[in-house]
Amino acid sequence: MQILQGKKILLGISGGIAAYKTPELVRRLKDQGADVRVVMTEGAKAFITPLTLQAVSANAVSDSLLDTQAELAMGHIELAKWADFILIAPATADLIAKIAAGMANDLLTTLCLATAAPIAIAPAMNQQMWHNLATQNNMKTLTSWQYSIFGPGAGEQACGDVGLGRMLEVHELVTLTCQAMESMNNDTSKAKPLAGQKWLITAGPTREAIDPVRYISNHSSGKMGFAIANAAQQLGADVTIISGPVSIATPPHCHKIAVTSAMEMHQHALDHAATSDVFVACAAVADYRIDHIADEKIKKSHDTMQLNLIKNPDIVADVAAMKNKPFTVGFAAETQDVEHYARDKLARKNLDMIAANNVAAQGQGFNSDDNALTVLTASDEKVLPLMSKSELAKKLVQHIQQTLQKSQ
Ligand code: C5P
Repeated sequence: MQILQGKKILLGISGGIAAYKTPELVRRLKDQGADVRVVMTEGAKAFITPLTLQAVSANAVSDSLLDTQAELAMGHIELAKWADFILIAPATADLIAKIAAGMANDLLTTLCLATAAPIAIAPAMNQQMWHNLATQNNMKTLTSWQYSIFGPGAGEQACGDVGLGRMLEVHELVTLTCQAMESMNNDTSKAKPLAGQKWLITAGPTREAIDPVRYISNHSSGKMGFAIANAAQQLGADVTIISGPVSIATPPHCHKIAVTSAMEMHQHALDHAATSDVFVACAAVADYRIDHIADEKIKKSHDTMQLNLIKNPDIVADVAAMKNKPFTVGFAAETQDVEHYARDKLARKNLDMIAANNVAAQGQGFNSDDNALTVLTASDEKVLPLMSKSELAKKLVQHIQQTLQKSQ
């Protein structure tokens, strides 16, 4: 089923260069079944035309508070009531400041005041403007008002700067909107069996620096760990993700600690594990790090070179060795004898559960959207067949919860 089937999404567009991506955003939201109406600020119209957005949304675009004809068709209060969800993308520093000040001097800011629907904003601005205390204080205000904040992402900016402030990619905004919608549905219709529990999840790869510009890493995308985080959060858990460098969005209402190396991930995991109920080690931690990271870029003056590697600490084993350890779940990515190696790891690392997958099998594992798992405890085995990582994550989280309940 399309996740946004029958949902009414109001897309607010303000005047940033990322506005050029919004026709694609409208199409992808509609692909998920949403009915999308667009509201543009004056600034937005300098970047993209209302006609384009009208064509892709198949709805009239609203851009004025004081247009008598528009008010007759669907007045601002009616529009505010129509929306199930308001997504503002891109949200400029100026628009964020106006909303945080409670202003209502154009249609979009007025809708923010007049709606009872949840609002998400996807900031997009120059990195210096993002870091400015004024913007950061405004963001704190919006967060305290339960606005969802989608991004921003890091990378190269239209102005040539590099840093935080890019609008998230369209596919990330759609995923986050679907997750926010799902979590709203859950809020009203489902119980929260994980309420009161703290879940700590490692995800993504780690990077082990060789010199200031080079590193060793692996192909982990972080998708599985983030899907588990989202599933646990939706069932009511307080979720912290310790993530290596990934290019996927943090699920709504999850805390993310961004790390680079295995040593950093290890430190944060040990700091948080004692106060967690469940620890899921989903990260593809680099087994080795460079013995001595060069201070300067290494020159290619020799035909061969050698790197001296030392073993990284085993994060999940160190958590499982703690006196008051959380319920500890590891992963085993294997290419052969999957169950045999997984059982060995379960015992050797003193885990409560291990989720094993065959990374050599086609269409699953690293970087794929699908996966299959065999989940083992000392006394039990459960096969979760090939399905999307988000479905699989839900099933795994339920299985962890049931096993945890039985063990208490
Ligand atoms: O030993 P192996 O790397 O195959 O074990 C995989 C499991 O151990 C995964 O859960 C992974 O997150 C965890 N692990 C870890 N720290 C390491 C290596 C692996 O937490 N240094």
